[in-house]
Amino acid sequence: MFVSVSGLAKSYDTGVVTPVLRGVDLQLDQGRIGVILGPSGSGKSTLMNVIGGLDRPDDGSVEVDGQRITDFNDAGLAEYRRDRVGFVFQFYNLVPNLTAGENIDVVSNISRQPLSTGEVLSAVGLSDKKHRFPRELSGGEQQRVAIARAIVKNPKLLLCDEPTGALDAEASRDVLALIQQVNADFGTTVLMITHNEAIADMAHSVFRMRSGDVVTATHNAQPIPAERIDW
Ligand SMILES: Nc1ncnc2c1ncn2[C@@H]1O[C@H](COP(=O)(O)OP(=O)(O)O)[C@@H](O)[C@H]1O
Ligand SMILES: [Mg+2]
Repeated sequence: MFVSVSGLAKSYDTGVVTPVLRGVDLQLDQGRIGVILGPSGSGKSTLMNVIGGLDRPDDGSVEVDGQRITDFNDAGLAEYRRDRVGFVFQFYNLVPNLTAGENIDVVSNISRQPLSTGEVLSAVGLSDKKHRFPRELSGGEQQRVAIARAIVKNPKLLLCDEPTGALDAEASRDVLALIQQVNADFGTTVLMITHNEAIADMAHSVFRMRSGDVVTATHNAQPIPAERIDW
């Protein structure tokens, strides 16, 4: 198992203690695309943030590629995030006063064995827009830069939190096709959050969350190409 989550629990205390993860179990094989579906507030982002080493649980464990990251200290987690995990978020999170190429360079400069900025820009189909600033790109293009930035470090695991949440149907399909292409070409294991049921058809594994727990895990023998997702 490439990602193995076991008994993961977390609560927030904001005066009242609210359980957000209630003993989550999740398993994802190497080289697969997993999709996490569930209503707003069901704990999807919290789960992903713990898997990505951005947040710590109260109880339970997360293993990624044979390492129990929930046992790591802060320095170990920082190294894990830097070397192993690529992140893509709903609102791109590009640095506004850096060009597309410079946004990617920022990450490759601190990576151990980065791909080249030219290679990842070409992979996302934006070689001709290297010198554009984020404000000079469409939402879909900005998200493709964000994906290029996430994969330039050649991560083992790509985590995407609602990557199409701010995009129209056409740009969404492009971004999802790109994520599928990264998975196929680089062998990157992908875990993606969405609340769009239709996206489940492109995943190998589908995890449905409700009220802080994964209630079903199903597997597609034949995931469909993102281009064929019925919006
Ligand atoms: N930092 C925080 N402090 C307090 N409550 C939080 C915090 N982050 C998330 N929550 C709560 O945890 C629950 C799950 O949030 P989240 O994981 O973001 O869900 P989802 O991504 O499925 O919408 C929500 O009820 C949210 O209000
Ligand atoms: Mg969320």
